[in-house]
Amino acid sequence: MSPFPANVRIHPTLPALHRAAADLIEATLQSALTERGRGLVALAGGHTPRAVYATIAEDQANGRAAMSWDRIHVFFGDERAVPPDDPASNYRMAKESLLAHLPLPAANVHQIPGELGAEAAAIAYAKNLQTFFDLPDQTWPQFDLVLLGLGDDGHTASLFPGTAPLEEEQQWVCANQSPVPPTARVTLTFPILNAARRVVFLVAGEAKAKILRQALAPQPGEPRLPAARVAPASGEAIWLVDAAAASLLAP
Ligand code: 6PG
Repeated sequence: MSPFPANVRIHPTLPALHRAAADLIEATLQSALTERGRGLVALAGGHTPRAVYATIAEDQANGRAAMSWDRIHVFFGDERAVPPDDPASNYRMAKESLLAHLPLPAANVHQIPGELGAEAAAIAYAKNLQTFFDLPDQTWPQFDLVLLGLGDDGHTASLFPGTAPLEEEQQWVCANQSPVPPTARVTLTFPILNAARRVVFLVAGEAKAKILRQALAPQPGEPRLPAARVAPASGEAIWLVDAAAASLLAP
């Protein structure tokens, strides 16, 4: 019995991880377009995804990712409560590395308005999601793809250990506090993440080896990390990691 989920894919180098991630993202969105006529993706923030997004942007430029981007809608898994041009903004990172290089209509990019402050941004983003998905009550919106990272403390999106939003079962979006600046954050909640058809974690580097092992193969007595609580009920979670991050995973 494998000590961790079967969907852990270990790539020998960082460039190989970036290439594999871009391929998986592109294939997932193309399948959504083919099967449902549109693709709905929530992007991850932080540093790791930037090179993956840049790879997709290159693929678009060289025709490798030629798809009907006008039928793709881009959302965000979380955001810092900062203006969109702030260096800490996840939107800014995604725009610079990817969105500015895609033929995406502006209306297809659904920002979390961090400039409003965390609480107001959470309310506004939730309203945007509810208007877009237009679902009956008690129905969770289903993204085709949610990209996530793994923080040094085991957080994902902006669901930090020991914070109240970890236990949220009704709200789609919450404001939260990060232990590291920028502290004011906005995040999708577990019910939304776990309603996704596919979640893809992107984890790279030696510094993540310990926390990745704890997320995927917790030892007795170790707390269950927020990232480990992402387990789509009718979808799948795939972990794309490089060999350095996987160095403590059992063979
Ligand atoms: C954020 C992200 C956060 C990130 C992890 C990993 O806003 O920072 O949503 O959850 O994915 O902290 O970040 P790195 O990729 O920079 O290690």
